[in-house]
Amino acid sequence: MGLKTSLLHWLLEKRRSRFLRLKKINSLAIAKDDRFWDVHLSLLRDGRCTQTLHERYNLWTLAKATARLGGAIAEVGVYRGGSARLLCETGCGTPLHLFDTFEGMPQTNAATDGNFATGDFADTSLEDVRRYLSGYSDIHFHKGFFPASAIGSAAENLQYRLAHLDVDIRESTLGCLEFFYPRMLRGGVILSHDYGQLSAPGVKSAFDDFFSDKPETIIPLWDTQCVVTKI
Ligand SMILES: C[S@@+](CC[C@H](N)C(=O)[O-])C[C@H]1O[C@@H](n2cnc3c(N)ncnc32)[C@H](O)[C@@H]1O
Repeated sequence: MGLKTSLLHWLLEKRRSRFLRLKKINSLAIAKDDRFWDVHLSLLRDGRCTQTLHERYNLWTLAKATARLGGAIAEVGVYRGGSARLLCETGCGTPLHLFDTFEGMPQTNAATDGNFATGDFADTSLEDVRRYLSGYSDIHFHKGFFPASAIGSAAENLQYRLAHLDVDIRESTLGCLEFFYPRMLRGGVILSHDYGQLSAPGVKSAFDDFFSDKPETIIPLWDTQCVVTKI
């Protein structure tokens, strides 16, 4: 671990109010969310979450904000379990369905997916992520290519308040939207990573195409996410 990273971790743990002042966020609601900062720090230490601070906080707040709807939460694109753990820590008492090949990126397409390649993110396994999340209940793992991995499973007959997509490529993103859109509760939220990520053009093109004939608006967020609320 580099010096800058160690200093950041130390500040977050031992001098949190100074860290918040330095980031100029000490008067924002996030500054008072001690639970979030504790989870954020432990994710940084675990080195398992690929998302930024802003993105983690968006995921955290949306998981909490949609809790009143009931319904399930799904994540497609789990990799080593970092963002899934954040969802577990929101403690909203909702079934959480996790989908990934747990063997790396499936077939990619150079014409639509930028530099992503088949087999990226292969340094994970279902057993490892299962162990990592073993302290939480109501977690359901679905190993394999999504959406095929959902068909015929309990996840097929659920309604969702939050679908978190982090799959990087066009075909996977389209598969997610086709599966979850009809299963979202009214007011439920589809949140995707990488909509504004120039190196992941397939995500934006899948969202733009899919929602071109739907009433919902795609709302881009800081840093790369987008969010759609089901009408
Ligand atoms: C960027 S990683 C996810 C990172 C994770 N959300 C985090 O923040 O730590 C992308 C993951 O999507 C998975 N993936 C992409 N398309 C998929 C599909 N169609 N079915 C299952 N997994 C898929 C890959 O296997 C990879 O693990």
